[in-house]
Amino acid sequence: MNIVLVGMQWGDEGKGKVIDILSKKVDYIVRYQGGNNAGHTVVVGKQEYIFHLIPSGILHPGKICCIGNGVVIDPQVLLQELDSLRKNGIDFSRRFKISSLAHVIMPYHKNLDQLREKKRKNKIGTTGRGIGPCYADKINRCGIRMIDLLNPGVFRDKLKDNLKEKNEIFKKVYQHPGFSFQKIYRQYLDYGRLFASYICNTSALLNKATENKADILLEGAQGTFLDIDFGTYPFVTSSSTTSGGSCIGTGISPVKINKVIGVCKAYTTRVGEGPFPTEFAKDFGNFMRDKGNEFGSTTGRPRRCGWFDAIIARESVMLNGIQELAIMKMDVLDGLDKLKICIAYKYRGKLIKEFPCDFEVLSKAVPVYKEMPGWPNQNSKPRSFKELHPNAKAYLLELQKLLKAKITMVSVGSSRKDTIFI
Ligand code: GDP
Ligand code: IMO
Ligand code: MG
Repeated sequence: MNIVLVGMQWGDEGKGKVIDILSKKVDYIVRYQGGNNAGHTVVVGKQEYIFHLIPSGILHPGKICCIGNGVVIDPQVLLQELDSLRKNGIDFSRRFKISSLAHVIMPYHKNLDQLREKKRKNKIGTTGRGIGPCYADKINRCGIRMIDLLNPGVFRDKLKDNLKEKNEIFKKVYQHPGFSFQKIYRQYLDYGRLFASYICNTSALLNKATENKADILLEGAQGTFLDIDFGTYPFVTSSSTTSGGSCIGTGISPVKINKVIGVCKAYTTRVGEGPFPTEFAKDFGNFMRDKGNEFGSTTGRPRRCGWFDAIIARESVMLNGIQELAIMKMDVLDGLDKLKICIAYKYRGKLIKEFPCDFEVLSKAVPVYKEMPGWPNQNSKPRSFKELHPNAKAYLLELQKLLKAKITMVSVGSSRKDTIFI
């Protein structure tokens, strides 16, 4: 069985927690897009792990974890992550794999990301990790792939070509001195040597596993509305975050995907710039940010917070083919008098019930809300659907009705045990 798990909003929905839980039941866990712009949190007891590149299933002994061809890899960050696993006594040596075809984030990608962002009038608010420039090189057919780091001759030619063009751009457009060939060449060949035992043909590995009836969990990063095609362009990331991206980013055929699970928060958050129709007003936004501890796992930036938006969530169900829903952070809504769910937008007197493609409409749309009664703070964590406060149950059933997908998991805290299975 091959299962895809995607974020349904603007990222940080709690994918890491759900991947960790589902990992118990599968054999392989595979990241298929994005890079270390992602920060996926897994809490085990008192220990918190934040994974940027390594699949969030790595804590489960015996499970094979792959970084698929659709991911962009910053070798320095990957080394740090692997080191920190070693320090925590987690053995991964024989069960961690990197696709030969994954593209490499180079130092000039990171600088270009940051310099571009500085120069832009309408800032995207990127993570500054070089994601956009690395994917741009991939599409421009001048990218460097993991396998290239194992072949000094090929790598030398590709790097020389890249630096020739990029150093001119750095100097002329950004008044930046550019990069020296030797330093990068030596450093990245070293990375190649360090990663050599993990680099392999992961699509062959995963297809063979599927033939042998193994179970694979495909871990999406970011969220549906950060997708390069379907997101709130240009305020998006540079990869296909939707379920379709899982096939491109792993080499597993669409006919071999059996299930798609969508993860969304019981409210909405977003980091970085871009339209966000249900965003809270400042004071309530600050209150909810503290209540939900909504600060970025990667950059530490404060996340913008807002009410649940059923228009975007329903669009997400459609785009991803979501069959099951995991609703996260329900506990953060405890203690509110009333809750709001956005069921339509109003723009120039017109009622809109579908996600608008027109950027201006989305930016200026006024949400139309359905109000629901809140519930008091809970003395103890509910352990089953039955134990939830009646108003919390009603809220979840309303979401299920609006999204036309079945809720199979409700999360009421960051640890594994704070999870209700339905
Ligand atoms: P991801 O990028 O989708 O994996 O999500 P992040 O890890 O960036 O952000 C989710 C945050 O919410 C993390 O700090 C999690 O530990 C935390 N979290 C996950 N589920 C719950 C929950 O049900 N309740 C609360 N209070 N926190 C949660
Ligand atoms: P996870 O996987 C939330 C946002 C950035 C910025 C935009 C583009 O943890 O959910 P980029 O660096 O990708 O070019 O930035 O995308 N962004 C995320 N927001 N969660 C993420 O990942 C994100 N990855 C990128 O804040 O607005
Ligand atoms: Mg995150």
